Amino acid sequence: MKRRQFLGLAAALPVTTTFGGWTLFNHAVSAPRFDNPLFLPGADGPFAVLAPDNPFTLVAEQGWLPVPGREETPFLWYRTQVNGTEYQNPILLLRSGDELDVTLDNQLDEGTIIHWHGLHVPGRVDGHPMQTVDPGQQYEYRFRVTNRGGTYWYHTHAHHRTARQAHQGLASFLLVSDDDNEALNEALGLELGKTDLPLVLQDKRFDRLGHLVYRPNPMQGMMGYLGDEVLVNMTPAATHEVERRIHRLRLLNGSTARVYRLALRAGGEAIPFRVIGTDAGLLESPREAREAFLAPGERLEVLVDFAVLAGGDRVELHSLEFDPMAGGGMMGGGGMGRMMGGGMHDGDPLVLLEFVVRAGEATSAEVPGRLSRIEPIDVTNAAERDIRLDMAPMQWRINGEVYDPDRVPIEVDANTTEVWSIRNADHSMPHPMHIHGFSFQVLSRSGGPDFVREQAVNEQGLTVADLGWKDTVLLWPGETVRIAIDFTHDYAGDQLYVFHCHNLEHEDNDMMVNVRVRA
Ligand code: C2O
Ligand code: CU
Ligand code: CU
Repeated sequence: MKRRQFLGLAAALPVTTTFGGWTLFNHAVSAPRFDNPLFLPGADGPFAVLAPDNPFTLVAEQGWLPVPGREETPFLWYRTQVNGTEYQNPILLLRSGDELDVTLDNQLDEGTIIHWHGLHVPGRVDGHPMQTVDPGQQYEYRFRVTNRGGTYWYHTHAHHRTARQAHQGLASFLLVSDDDNEALNEALGLELGKTDLPLVLQDKRFDRLGHLVYRPNPMQGMMGYLGDEVLVNMTPAATHEVERRIHRLRLLNGSTARVYRLALRAGGEAIPFRVIGTDAGLLESPREAREAFLAPGERLEVLVDFAVLAGGDRVELHSLEFDPMAGGGMMGGGGMGRMMGGGMHDGDPLVLLEFVVRAGEATSAEVPGRLSRIEPIDVTNAAERDIRLDMAPMQWRINGEVYDPDRVPIEVDANTTEVWSIRNADHSMPHPMHIHGFSFQVLSRSGGPDFVREQAVNEQGLTVADLGWKDTVLLWPGETVRIAIDFTHDYAGDQLYVFHCHNLEHEDNDMMVNVRVRA
């Protein structure tokens, strides 16, 4: 039986599971039929591309988003008007070196703040949760984009409200271009929005009226709130027609808690792809892969060559099965996960999106062997720092700490390099750890479950998603991951950032610490 038929059957069976007195879920598992055209941004409206060259304002407010194949849902978005054109959650397009001059206008009925995920900016304009502004207030950001080209994003960082506000909509892409990116798109004839596709993966829940719901019970608040369907660009069961040529996919995991094990399948066969970039831009050279993990906050850029397929072929983007608690798990051996049932559990197999290959001439293109240049961070004089992730009852911790705005557990000197050795407890769950303000390089990964170690692409145990420049790195139970961070900057004075888990329920439950970079 094909998976899709299987999911179709599963859809008929409503499932309810209780655990410790809480109902973990009571929705039927949704049945993807892939009949909704994938939402791609147009010239205006939701997620349209905006290349701002003047000061503009992003109004955080509640609107109504038409979801492809569904009703409208209440949705939180950033709205702006530029030269008479209306945008909601615009995909911001900047060039390395550009200045961004934007004011957040909070028209929600609660506090909010915007964080520029992955950007190297001074603390004042980073969107630290303590910068959350009240309803009716504004916050001004003005900074130069100094990052290399890449797929970055911006989202709410409202203190203790990030997960819900992000789930309800407050997030979008911030794409940075540079010479390397332009050279690649030119060599392959790629065009943003057509053959170069930003794709945000988000699992969501809707109520009977078709309205997004975010209502975690205490268990989900601690573990992470999983949706019962995965949307790509806010499209449930999305289908997209592609020409027989190379496409660039910029995948962003914008889910609050779900980890994806991405793979492509056509007629049950694995379709290899080339990984060309990770969080903060292009790799030095493309690397062929058959699967890759993508945790909340992470980005992965891949090239898929549809020229080798025939017209009418269908290629599905899957998330393959895995056991998130492997190697111990909170309840030992993943029992907890399994108890949460099919489709509702992190690591359950899912089909996320379908591509249909259009008939016609195939266009072949030579993928450049060299994409960019990456200098390894020099760690010869680096200070070493140990970071332990573990849990107290109902509370995840970083070095035994939970977030206290008045404490600064990590202080580093500007213009120095540190090596952080991050160790996740054996009885734990996956934690995608993220630092604000700086990118890093992953040095090594060890001690994780077999299905992670099997994906090592080098002797240091790195997976394909660890290569290049990163700002978020996934820690599986039992793992130790070493990263090198270069705290070089030229901002005046001390800078305050945060280091936190990008499982946004974990973050809102204070799995976060302040980081001060001392002048
Ligand atoms: Cu995308 Cu502090 O996070
Ligand atoms: Cu961030
Ligand atoms: Cu976590």
